[in-house]
Amino acid sequence: MSSSAGRKRGREDDDAFVDETRKAARHVAEHYSARSNQSREERESSPIIHLKKLNNWIKSVLIKLYVQRGDSVLDLACGKGGDLIKYDKAMVGHYVGVDIASGSIEDARTRYNNRRQRLSFPARLICADCYEVSLEKVLKDDAPFDVCSCQFALHYSWSTEERARKAFSNVSSLLRPGGYFIGTMPDSNVIVRKLREADGLQYGNNVYSIKFDDSFIEKQFQASKPFGIQYHFKLEDAVDCPEWLVPFLKLKSLAEQYNLELVMKKNFHEFVHEYLQQPNFDELMRKLGPLGDGTNGDCISEDEWDAAYLYLVFVFRKTGEAPIHQRTMRRRSWTTIKQEEILHLS
Ligand SMILES: C[S@@+](CC[C@H](N)C(=O)[O-])C[C@H]1O[C@@H](n2cnc3c(N)ncnc32)[C@H](O)[C@@H]1O
Repeated sequence: MSSSAGRKRGREDDDAFVDETRKAARHVAEHYSARSNQSREERESSPIIHLKKLNNWIKSVLIKLYVQRGDSVLDLACGKGGDLIKYDKAMVGHYVGVDIASGSIEDARTRYNNRRQRLSFPARLICADCYEVSLEKVLKDDAPFDVCSCQFALHYSWSTEERARKAFSNVSSLLRPGGYFIGTMPDSNVIVRKLREADGLQYGNNVYSIKFDDSFIEKQFQASKPFGIQYHFKLEDAVDCPEWLVPFLKLKSLAEQYNLELVMKKNFHEFVHEYLQQPNFDELMRKLGPLGDGTNGDCISEDEWDAAYLYLVFVFRKTGEAPIHQRTMRRRSWTTIKQEEILHLS
């Protein structure tokens, strides 16, 4: 083969790879867009209601620990705006939510506009693939942010190195020095350990399943190829789409290249045990009810607790100290977001 034919083939392969990656991102977006808002009754009868409440408790604790009154918050992969009320309780000054799924952004708009909730902060919503698009210019008037959050979604960036880098460059360029990047995502150590313990390439329980394809028959993963390790994840009443393994050491070293230093990494089980020791968080747990009151089976099931073990909490801090005046104490008031005000970036 001539060298130009080789180059052409190389470019064709690259194009096919980019197409595949975009297709996978679209698949994820369509999956989440199609999930409609549930009524209160539907939510309460979910087979994973206690796990959902536990996830909300974990996110609430993280927000209470790292978000201060008046902070400006960037919520990457904000979904249907499920954390808006948590940020209202934290009395944030400004909020920007970004998500790839247009249906979810529309639900977030509805939730934000709901007058009964009386949210107290101004917000913007953007529909974009935040692992593909540069957000720095678009958000130059909103930045710097005091806190960036990415809940249950950073692993969707891990299909390629370019996307993972885009995630960190967006976070790092928009956070102020000393600002925090907080989040939750699957714990690759647990996922791989359970894979090795399983008979085949699939495992799970009544509420979740994880399936790797035949190319992982050896159950070995090379440190030199940390991106694009795909599996299929199904969580009852929540997720049914491709996801990517995120080797945490690689995540940490990539974060360092973007001036983000690790503050905390804890598996959900460890996080729950540790923060339940604090009376205020114990009280919040009782209020949100994830552990139930122990009567009539009203308690997180073993299968849900096992599913919680699949996740971890992370906190990074942007290096450097911000002068006090640089903290963004913006307190403008709530005003509705019109549909045409949602920015769509392709
Ligand atoms: C499990 S949901 C979590 C939603 C929200 N953060 C929460 O905690 O309720 C994952 C979210 O990630 C979003 N997402 C996945 N890939 C994305 C991408 N490339 N850019 C922006 N959002 C993405 C999905 O649309 C979905 O809303």
